[in-house]
Amino acid sequence: MAEIVISGVSRSFGTVRAVDQVDLTVGDGEFFTLLGPSGCGKTTLLRMIAGFCELDRGAIRFGRTRIDQLPAHVRDIGMVFQNYAVFPNLTVAGNVAYGLKARKVAGTEIDRRVDEALALVQLSGYGARWPHQLSGGQLQRVAIARALVIRPQVLLFDEPLSNLDARLRVNMRTEIRELQKSLGITAIYVTHDQEEAMSVSDRIALMNAGRLEQVGVPVDIYRHPVSRFAAEFMGTTNLLAGSALDRAGEKLVSLRPEALRLAGDAPADWPRLAGTLARLELLGPLVRLDMALPDGTLVKAALLDQPGLALQAGASITLAYDPARLTVLP
Ligand SMILES: Nc1ncnc2c1ncn2[C@@H]1O[C@H](COP(=O)(O)OP(=O)(O)OP(=O)(O)O)[C@@H](O)[C@H]1O
Ligand SMILES: [Mg+2]
Repeated sequence: MAEIVISGVSRSFGTVRAVDQVDLTVGDGEFFTLLGPSGCGKTTLLRMIAGFCELDRGAIRFGRTRIDQLPAHVRDIGMVFQNYAVFPNLTVAGNVAYGLKARKVAGTEIDRRVDEALALVQLSGYGARWPHQLSGGQLQRVAIARALVIRPQVLLFDEPLSNLDARLRVNMRTEIRELQKSLGITAIYVTHDQEEAMSVSDRIALMNAGRLEQVGVPVDIYRHPVSRFAAEFMGTTNLLAGSALDRAGEKLVSLRPEALRLAGDAPADWPRLAGTLARLELLGPLVRLDMALPDGTLVKAALLDQPGLALQAGASITLAYDPARLTVLP
């Protein structure tokens, strides 16, 4: 039973409201991500769940049990940090065994569980190595094994992949996701990378200045952002005045680049926008272009490449957009 219920939680540092009146329930076995820009309060909220930071107000429960006043080591939580926090003076096995020794687990049981944890992160046979003999990806796996070995009900990750190169990040995020699902563990994952959040999460809480801006399944937040902040943070978008689209009743709308097509390739009932091609970028599968409307507003479109597509900057073009994919913002 590892449902996590966060109610009315706040924390300030001086005049900064790092976490401001947060209410959130994370389901048992869920992969839940806190997403948001630097300084929005992700780490502070995670540290409060882990027991490394006190609350000013509110409560945190695991199921029915209130845990926010319990010391960190009895909360049944594993935590993986951005900088791995692997001890350089202990072997891989020593690092993984650390939490078990602190919990006074018997020696033979420790050896068995360390082997088991290293196998889970695909590091069997690495126990005798020293941290300086490992790659960044392997160090991150040691950190995950060290968190898993205590068999926590909940695993917390604070930007665990930000020190890895782009390709390894993509591989590791899939590994973390698969491991979490196979163990059935509840995970709270912190990142400021929107794509990473969308790829691994069951649900996302988008944070802005200590508050929850929007909570939902990734694709819903992407397709139906509730605010300008959410629309922009979840990916590239066109924020246009309703008047630019002949939608006089609406002040501001968000239109994702992929909701636009060249008029010749679009259904006849999609509204048209005529302008001048300002910029063109051929990325292989995708063609990104900016079209300037007569008033100078730039509209970004992302098209799939196709044989014979020949566009020149400066040419007059007409785009069409899918009205079903337009979001009206407050
Ligand atoms: N111990 C502290 N003392 C003073 N201010 C703090 C402390 N910890 C956090 N803050 C402030 O609280 C706010 C939220 O910080 P937090 O570390 O939670 O943000 P974050 O979302 O994790 O950012 P990042 O993506 O950069 O890691 C920031 O304004 C930060 O400066
Ligand atoms: Mg942080």
